[in-house]
Amino acid sequence: MDYVASLEKCELLLESTDLTRDEKLQEICEFIYDSAPNYDWVGYYFADYENRELVLGPYIGESTDHTRIPFGKGICGQVAVSNEVFKVDDVAKEDNYLSCSIAVKSEIVVPLFVKGINIGQIDIDSHAVNAFDDRDSRFLVELNELVAKLFE
Ligand code: SME
Repeated sequence: MDYVASLEKCELLLESTDLTRDEKLQEICEFIYDSAPNYDWVGYYFADYENRELVLGPYIGESTDHTRIPFGKGICGQVAVSNEVFKVDDVAKEDNYLSCSIAVKSEIVVPLFVKGINIGQIDIDSHAVNAFDDRDSRFLVELNELVAKLFE
C-alpha cells in the first residue's frame, strides 16, 4: 500500500461535502480495505461512556457478534482503557481476545482521540499472522488524526 497516497485520498474523502459522517467513515473503511491486501476486516468502534462499552460503527468485512464490547474486554476493550495502539502479531497467543472468526490471525487497534479524549478506535483484522508493522501503525494514527476533525 502507498501510505502517503492513501492518506491523501482519505483526506479528500473526509472533506467531501455530500456525505454524512457515518458515510465518510464507511468510505474510509472500504477504501483502506480495498487498498491493503492484508486488511480483511476494517471497522470503527465508539465509546459509550455511560455503559462503559464500545459500540460498533461503520465497518467492512464479515458481520460480527461483537457489536458491543465492555471496556477492558478483548483487544478493543483494552485499548478503550489503555489509550495506546495495540498490535497483535498472533491472536492465538492472546488470552484477553474476542474472536470474530477463526480465519483471523493478527489484529491492530488504534485509538481515536478528539481533543485528547479517546472516543473510539479503528480495528483491523488480518487472515495472516504478523500482518501489521510500524508503517501500518503510523498510517492509522495519522488517519485517525484526520478522522478526528469530523468530531471537533
Ligand atoms: N477481536 C476484537 C473484537 C472485535 S472484532 O475483531 C471485529 C477484540 O479482541 O477486541
